[in-house]
Amino acid sequence: MSAPARPMAERPVMLITGTRKGIGKYLAETYVKRGYIVEGCSRGEASFEAEGYTHTSMDISEEKAVKAWVSGIARRHGRIDCVLNNAAIASMNHVLLTPAATANRMLAVNVTATMLVCRDAAKVMMRRRYGRIVNFTTIVDPIGLAGEAIYAASKAAVVTFTRILAFELGDWGITCNSFGATPIMTDMIKGVPKEKIDAVVNALAIKRLGKPEDCVNVCDFFINPLSDNITAQVVYLGGVS
Ligand SMILES: NC(=O)c1ccc[n+]([C@@H]2O[C@H](COP(=O)([O-])OP(=O)(O)OC[C@H]3O[C@@H](n4cnc5c(N)ncnc54)[C@H](OP(=O)(O)O)[C@@H]3O)[C@@H](O)[C@H]2O)c1
Repeated sequence: MSAPARPMAERPVMLITGTRKGIGKYLAETYVKRGYIVEGCSRGEASFEAEGYTHTSMDISEEKAVKAWVSGIARRHGRIDCVLNNAAIASMNHVLLTPAATANRMLAVNVTATMLVCRDAAKVMMRRRYGRIVNFTTIVDPIGLAGEAIYAASKAAVVTFTRILAFELGDWGITCNSFGATPIMTDMIKGVPKEKIDAVVNALAIKRLGKPEDCVNVCDFFINPLSDNITAQVVYLGGVS
């Protein structure tokens, strides 16, 4: 059963990056149904419409675009309650075959863009001394998956960035956490050989593929107003530590 719509003034404002497809789309649809005002973005056009959902077509690795996106949201709503930094790119490639351009692009989208969105959103959150930031990492880093060296390194950087950011923003009531999902059947992993995915799943404590619902569950915990003392943490799903 979906939650009743909240009165406009009370509706929390949530930014989610990468909402055209995959996990980001699922998150956006879920939170808008629950009464959040959801501001989503991705390079492509919106793939769904809903009352309370606004899509901006932009590349989050472009600093000016991020600034304009966040300042427009601040102008329209006067607040930002939550940020889910979900957008990312991956490239399954042995490091010996990885061009510098591929590595640089992955670092720009996965790390620098996460920093840009956190930076600009935090400035808005600080005014109300409240905010919840959740940055997306992956279990591929702690499990050490061959073929994902640069992607895993970029997501390890997200974890470290988030941990330190928590200390920089703690005095303003802003919490910063990250979480790493297990493999979820989206476009991101459709090119990964089945044997590789099966091997990852078999190495987990909970031997099943991940689901977008798993991501919502962790986000729910981190963005809960009661989680004001939960910060600088990383949660890996499936038993990975
Ligand atoms: N799927 C998995 O197995 C898995 C496991 C662990 C962690 N994760 C993490 O979960 C998150 C979501 O992954 P996913 O599987 O849903 O990926 P996905 O299906 O490939 O979707 C990625 C989303 O990000 C957007 N995006 C990509 N580059 C962008 C850019 N430069 N600027 C703005 N938007 C951009 C894409 O839309 P456009 O193409 O329109 O830009 C798309 O909406 C990622 O952080 C990923 O690392 C995924």
